[in-house]
Order: sequence, then structure tokens, then C-alpha cells
Amino acid sequence: NIKIEIVKNKDKGGEAAYNHIKKEIEKGADVFGLATGSTPEPLYKEIRKSDLDFSDKVAVNLDEYIGIGRDHPQSYAFFMKEQLFAEKPFKETHIPDGLAPEETEVDRYNTILDENPVDVQILGIGTNAHIGFNEPGTSFETKTHKVMLTDDTIEANKRYFDSKDEVPKHAYSMGIASIMAAKKIILMAYGENKAEAISKTVNGPVTEEVPASILQNHPDVTLIVDEAAASLL
Ligand code: F6R
Repeated sequence: NIKIEIVKNKDKGGEAAYNHIKKEIEKGADVFGLATGSTPEPLYKEIRKSDLDFSDKVAVNLDEYIGIGRDHPQSYAFFMKEQLFAEKPFKETHIPDGLAPEETEVDRYNTILDENPVDVQILGIGTNAHIGFNEPGTSFETKTHKVMLTDDTIEANKRYFDSKDEVPKHAYSMGIASIMAAKKIILMAYGENKAEAISKTVNGPVTEEVPASILQNHPDVTLIVDEAAASLL
């Protein structure tokens, strides 16, 4: 069911994802679910240099670290501003508030998602097949929640911080159920270190141990991969 597009490199992947987004806008898409990390950077570059107009569109981001504010250079709010929003203004941008308490923030974000059903969701994938910050073992029924990051994820993300100790240990993330509610999903993965996660996602059993495997049950998923990430398919 997952449609697979194999591209030469991540720049071509960014162009391919951009073309999907352009087409969806022509069909009336209003709400875009966005991701951070290195994977969507080429896509955001394509959008920045395009003449696509997002001034009447809404962005909702997947996740945010807990304990750092939107002005912290490693916050996902800061990343989105630098990568996209500063140059491409949206009507509204939403991202969980890493300084807000769990008791109110989870409900606030779920309400935002209820009011803004996602038309196109952009996803990257972790080496352990996490999507958003939904680590292996997360229930497929979960909506926005507070998560404890696994050591794998902290290890993978420490490259952005001065030291591993500075990587936050928790995050807010849209849940698997929130992600699955999107009308269309575009998952991108590049590099050999994603090959195993991609193989399990596409061909493995659908199990909570492989969070992205649930995408097999979604009616409209496009997977954009380079040859290295596709090498075990
Ligand atoms: C980011 C996110 C994560 C990343 C994943 C891959 O908002 O939700 O699931 O997509 O960790 O990260 P990169 O792209 O840096 O390899």
C-alpha cells in the first residue's frame, strides 16, 4: 500500500516531496504537518526558493523538546523559524510549548489538531523506526503525549548540542493516532543507517515495536528514499 519513490540523493528527495506538496495545494490542502531534523531540510529549501504561497495555510509540527523554550537554538520552534517560517510566512504555525506543563499542554495541542485536521503530514524516521518522538512500544492509539526519549534517540540527536548531557530527556509529541489521522503522509528517509528501519516499516509485521510499521495501514503514504535507505527493501 505504501507508494515508494527511490531518488538519487536527498536533494532529489526534497524536490520530489516539494512536487507532492505543490500538487496538494492545487487540490486545496490547507493544513501541513511538519517535521524537524535533517531529513526535511532539502524540502524546506525547495519551498523557501519557490513562489508557493503559504500565507493562508496552517502548519502544525510533530514535536518539541521539553525544558527548552522557543528561543533556544536547539528547540524545534527555532529550527522551523530558521528553516522555513522566517522566509515563508504561514497564517498560523503551531508547535508544542516545551516550557508548558503536561497537564495543560497535551490537551491544548490535541485541541489544535482537532481544529486543524492535517491534509499533508511530512515525516522523517528514526533508526529505531520512531515517527515523531513515538519510540518503540508506544501504543498505536496514542494522541499527543509526553515521551521519555530513548538512549538511541538522545545519542542520535546529541550532534546538535554541545554534549550528550544537554540533550533534553523528554519531549511532547503528536501520537501515532494523531499522525495516522492525516489525509496524506509523505515519509522521507536517506542514508544507509535508515535502511533497516525502512525495510521493517515497509515489509515487516505491523507492530508497536516498529512504530512506523503502522503506516502500512494508512490509505495514502508515499515513501521517498535514496538508494542507501532503500537497500534492504
Ligand atoms: C522530528 C521527528 C523525528 C525525526 C527523526 C529523524 O520532528 O519527529 O522523528 O524525523 O528522528 O531525524 P533526522 O531527519 O535528523 O534523521
